[in-house]
Amino acid sequence: MDQSRRELLVTGTLVAAAAAVSAAQPAHAQGQVMTSAANRPPPTDAPYQGGTNVGKIDIVNTLELAEEARKILPEGGFGYISSGAGSEWTMRENSAAFERVQIEPQAATGISQIDLSVEILGSRLSMPIMMAPCGSHGLAHISKEIGTAQAVAAAGTLMVTSTQANESMEAIAAANPGPKWFQLYFPSDRGYARELILRAKAAGYTAILPTVDNLVGFPRETNIRNDFRVPVSLGKGNMPRGMTDTTAALAIMRHRKVDLSWDDFAWIKEETGLPVVVKGVMSPKTALQVVQHGLDGVYVSNHGGRAFDGVPATFTALPRIADAVEGRVPIILDGGVRRGTDVFKALAMGANAVAIGRPALYGLALGGWEGALSVFEHMRDILAISMTLSGTPNVRSITREYLYRANALT
Ligand SMILES: Cc1cc2nc3c(=O)[nH]c(=O)nc-3n(C[C@H](O)[C@H](O)[C@H](O)COP(=O)(O)O)c2cc1C
Repeated sequence: MDQSRRELLVTGTLVAAAAAVSAAQPAHAQGQVMTSAANRPPPTDAPYQGGTNVGKIDIVNTLELAEEARKILPEGGFGYISSGAGSEWTMRENSAAFERVQIEPQAATGISQIDLSVEILGSRLSMPIMMAPCGSHGLAHISKEIGTAQAVAAAGTLMVTSTQANESMEAIAAANPGPKWFQLYFPSDRGYARELILRAKAAGYTAILPTVDNLVGFPRETNIRNDFRVPVSLGKGNMPRGMTDTTAALAIMRHRKVDLSWDDFAWIKEETGLPVVVKGVMSPKTALQVVQHGLDGVYVSNHGGRAFDGVPATFTALPRIADAVEGRVPIILDGGVRRGTDVFKALAMGANAVAIGRPALYGLALGGWEGALSVFEHMRDILAISMTLSGTPNVRSITREYLYRANALT
């Protein structure tokens, strides 16, 4: 038995023991607050079917896709995708923040060609818009993450695969010959953590993205109202391998390491030799720590307002984070990016690229891989128009100079 498997099984036993103890004597009875997967609703066995159509979709704007997706998806699944934490203030604010900043175009810049491509950590993207890591694409469409991977490959951009994918990271990688990164929900079980990151490396993922913002489950009121939990029948492609007891395997998967430290991220680098991009950065201090610890990227995210209601919009947090990072590592931003103009504003404010979550899932729901592709193409086209109209020929040239400031002449 190899080392990692031994660790896994030992810790698995501990998980079971801990569960038994906490069942006998609730933590809060001892004045402690639960900080584990224990407050995350378990999956169900309920049957589920997402969208089945495959074909290009007509898009007026990506915001309107939500209503279209609502019409075809089971209520619980649509609610899971579309909702946010608590009052959903942060979720709404993510998009609203973009509307409070305007673009200042320059005229007569003599531009006839627009280059949308970017290179980030060695990955060449056709556009500065990538696929955010989202669990359970099967909630949206029967093709699950395979459909999304095909869309991203056709769009020539990058997909971040979630630990919580329905399909295995290997199958998703096989459907996407293009650039790909792996998002890690860092498990408590070190052996399982090692298994995940080494699997990712072997499958061709070129960066690991530990998520730091969703370690305990902030209540999502829509899911509570719908009594919805992600059906296990959709699959859990990245469960611990080689375990015959699925319940025990799922328990290990659900048990995230809450007391994450910078050593944990350094360990990912040591184990894999891959760049580490920290996902869920919302403060300049954390961003600076990413740089100081020799990590490779800052991913500004509040989980699309799903993790911690009450934190600011990512776009609001971005300028101070970009100032702290000073270009030393790339910055990716997600949350509420719905229009090509939002992408432009995020790039101007200091992001190297943005990622989208829900819009791509709605596209997937409505048209499978071609529907998701339509979303990327639509946002790319509006970004290209925005660049032409503002006089910025390439992504590098989009700077804060192109954001309107009332007192620019003073
Ligand atoms: C259905 C769904 C599942 C998600 N699952 C994950 C996940 O497994 N890991 C993760 O780091 N983020 C996850 N996220 C958050 C996204 O990576 C991203 O931060 C967010 O969707 C961006 O906001 P947007 O949906 O407004 O574009 C999920 C988001 C959605 C909508």
